[in-house]
Amino acid sequence: MPLVKDGMWVGLGTGSTARWFILGLAERVRNGLTVRAVATSLASASLATVHGIDVEDLRADGLDLAVDGADSVNPALELIKGRGGAMLREKIVAASAARFVVIVDDSKYMSQLCGRVPVEVIRFGGARTLHALSERTSMDFTFRVGSDGEPFITDNGNLIADSEYTDVTDPVALAAEIGSVPGVAGHGLFVGMTDVVFVGHSDGSVEQLTAHGDTVA
Ligand code: A5P
Repeated sequence: MPLVKDGMWVGLGTGSTARWFILGLAERVRNGLTVRAVATSLASASLATVHGIDVEDLRADGLDLAVDGADSVNPALELIKGRGGAMLREKIVAASAARFVVIVDDSKYMSQLCGRVPVEVIRFGGARTLHALSERTSMDFTFRVGSDGEPFITDNGNLIADSEYTDVTDPVALAAEIGSVPGVAGHGLFVGMTDVVFVGHSDGSVEQLTAHGDTVA
């Protein structure tokens, strides 16, 4: 049974996995499916629009479904997101959806979250916020730099501070610590938000996991 049904409002994630979802959805739209979409980045909005998907603003009553990728997923379906720097809009969209579905390959599904945790930081007082993040979490944070050597700026006009590579043993506690620092606009720890994760394996099989780590199919 397809995830997206006729008439749905759908949140479109950002990144290489979300790109495949958007292109697949566009094909169904060309074949007659009617959907309205909300994009989590300017890049995804542009991709969707070019391929004929109607992209609109996020309404007060939210979405039926949001679909996105992730950088790290644990059995509680907690996530690290934000390698592409879009995690603030991704979180707003995911939180607004009746169902939040994540698609990853099996290299990203692990017993414990690990990786760099991205934090979106407003530009005013950025150096101080970076220092406060490091003090609060006892981890090193550095500002992300784009391929042009300039500070990476998000679609919201903010900076991204990435933590050092780390195992996240307590995502709830770390999310609270990061979120308590003034100047933080958002971060890439998604806790208690995911309804389903599809894990793709190299043999072509796909596992469907629900929030308690059980395999549904
Ligand atoms: C975008 O900021 C990220 O949250 C992506 O959704 C995440 O990094 C997964 O991206 P890929 O599908 O490209 O691995």
